[in-house]
Amino acid sequence: MILINENYLALKGSYLFSEMAKRINAHGGDIIKLGIGDVTRPLPPAVVDAMKEAVDDMATAQGFHGYGPEQGYAWLREAIAANDYAGLGIEADEIFVSDGAKCDTGNIQELFSPMCDVAVLDPVYPVYVDTNVMAGRAGDYDESKNAYSNITYLPCSADNGFKPAVPQKNVDIIYLCYPNNPTGTVLTKEELTEWVNYAKKSGALILFDAAYEAFIREDNVPHSIYEIEGAKEVAIEFRSFSKTAGFTGTRCAFTVVPKALMGADSDGELHSLNAMWNRRHSTKFNGVPYITQKGALACYSDEGKAQIKETIGFYLDNAKIIREGLKSIGIDCWGGVNSPYVWLKTPGGMPSWDFFDKLLDAGVAGTPGAGFGSAGEGYFRLTAFNTKENTLKAMEKVSSLKL
Ligand code: MLT
Repeated sequence: MILINENYLALKGSYLFSEMAKRINAHGGDIIKLGIGDVTRPLPPAVVDAMKEAVDDMATAQGFHGYGPEQGYAWLREAIAANDYAGLGIEADEIFVSDGAKCDTGNIQELFSPMCDVAVLDPVYPVYVDTNVMAGRAGDYDESKNAYSNITYLPCSADNGFKPAVPQKNVDIIYLCYPNNPTGTVLTKEELTEWVNYAKKSGALILFDAAYEAFIREDNVPHSIYEIEGAKEVAIEFRSFSKTAGFTGTRCAFTVVPKALMGADSDGELHSLNAMWNRRHSTKFNGVPYITQKGALACYSDEGKAQIKETIGFYLDNAKIIREGLKSIGIDCWGGVNSPYVWLKTPGGMPSWDFFDKLLDAGVAGTPGAGFGSAGEGYFRLTAFNTKENTLKAMEKVSSLKL
């Protein structure tokens, strides 16, 4: 009999969003979905046109593309460097195009020793924790604490504005996601500088998930961790076209691994993380389709940029409807200003899965905070990814709940 990777046995239950989908389907009825953060608006026309042209290329002998470079076509990597990292000194060969930030944030931990200590914010995007469980870094799951014994959790609550202080002890790997999933909160430049300084001092590596960067509207909120002095020596950054340009079903993202980033082997010899990620990418990944990368490139055209701005503005208007709707019925909430996510305190401290069921009965699906970690208990997440009409209808349903 084949022996299994027993680390999988330490995984708790099913993946959060699969569990929610199961419960929503079992419930049936007409449900307005404000749960999983999946975009609802169509691809920007500039992207669609570019992809159609790319399909035509593929139909000709001259324009046909087979395997592309695993790291992404140079024209896309250069466009990313010139647009997303203008003035920040990130070079095209530090950018790795992939099929998603979920995959990259999940896979990156392969580069690090099983002995590394991992810190996450709590509540947290479950992929960071689960992939470390699979790799054997997380220790045992304690159901009563909804926590793994070897993971350092940094609790975020209304008391600390969902912005925990840097850890008291030294950890090796820190996952940060800003604008934050699930709380929708952001860090100022000064606050992010504290994390970079901590990493520099302690030798930790920051894995910075900036998948929601396009939603940033306020000044003094960094769009990239590389805006912070010295971050290139301590941070890897993840970005995605998913939430930016409606690519959740189209799949394109990228990860920045600066050449200045080094890791040590057990003899203390230093190795380039850029070279290691390049090696992994070349071995395990065969590149994002040419047609998809052409679509991603169109995001950087003038039309593409304007269309994306309009779509993000649309979602942020929905977020405002949600925030104002919640406040009008006395429910405290956060986020939704630089993020598609609104994080709310459940009325009367109701357990978040109970609130999920109550809302589902009223015809609205959201995400229970406890699904993101123990500090998420008593909170709930709603997304702005829907039509305006459905968002308004959902808020009417929430308002009519007997709470
Ligand atoms: C979410 O709802 O948190 C997102 O859909 C997660 C993801 O992008 O995988």
